[in-house]
Amino acid sequence: MRKLVAGNWKMNGLRADGTALARALAERHRDDRADCELLLCPPATLLTGIAPLLAGSGIALGGQDCHPDPAGAHTGDVSAAMLKDAGCAYVILGHSERRQDHHETDELVRRKAEAAWAEALIPIVCVGETAAERDAGRTLAVIGRQLAGSLPSGAGARQLVIAYEPVWAIGTGRTPRHDEIAEVHAFIRSELGRGTPGAATVRILYGGSVNAGNAQKILPIANVDGALVGGASLDAQSFQAIARAAAD
Ligand code: PGA
Repeated sequence: MRKLVAGNWKMNGLRADGTALARALAERHRDDRADCELLLCPPATLLTGIAPLLAGSGIALGGQDCHPDPAGAHTGDVSAAMLKDAGCAYVILGHSERRQDHHETDELVRRKAEAAWAEALIPIVCVGETAAERDAGRTLAVIGRQLAGSLPSGAGARQLVIAYEPVWAIGTGRTPRHDEIAEVHAFIRSELGRGTPGAATVRILYGGSVNAGNAQKILPIANVDGALVGGASLDAQSFQAIARAAAD
């Protein structure tokens, strides 16, 4: 499986620095021709400006969230159709920051995934345990529950990406041990296999403090099919180094 490296810019980037970063990444990827798939998920305000800069670069564009409804009276929200219209192929859903800041439930994330599919967007559904849940030995139970609740039925027949992001590893510089990452990714693969014939082809990304220094160790772990990168995706050189590690 070709690995996917996705940059989640979160709430970072104004037009000048955001377009400069996208342009730099597109140039680097054209020169490198690294054998991996790259994806940028900038803030919604930058999508239409960045889309033409990525054309022909081999880098895809994605949103960071979408509303479950196709349109309507939802002030401040963005629909899956709007993301598609802006040039997106992917959308991140159920990121832990949205689960925390916006009280998103598994049920809501499931409805958002259905909305994404209705527009032929590929959802990247995020799951992950908190530090307290890991310390209590509940990691796999939590992730099993999140998967069962957040994925629409028949998920295997559709295009889908899962991101395992331990909440305590996001933006902290801490990552799980490699055997811990392998354990969770194998568990996600087997959970997906329960009801979904295409489970073997679902990419499972690791996210949480991935950087240019640790990507070479994390990306070869079994069932790690790429990375969801936050902080390090805001630096062209770091993101390029992670892409190169994914292509190796
Ligand atoms: P980080 O964020 O790489 O800054 O830890 C990852 C994420 O939240 O997707």
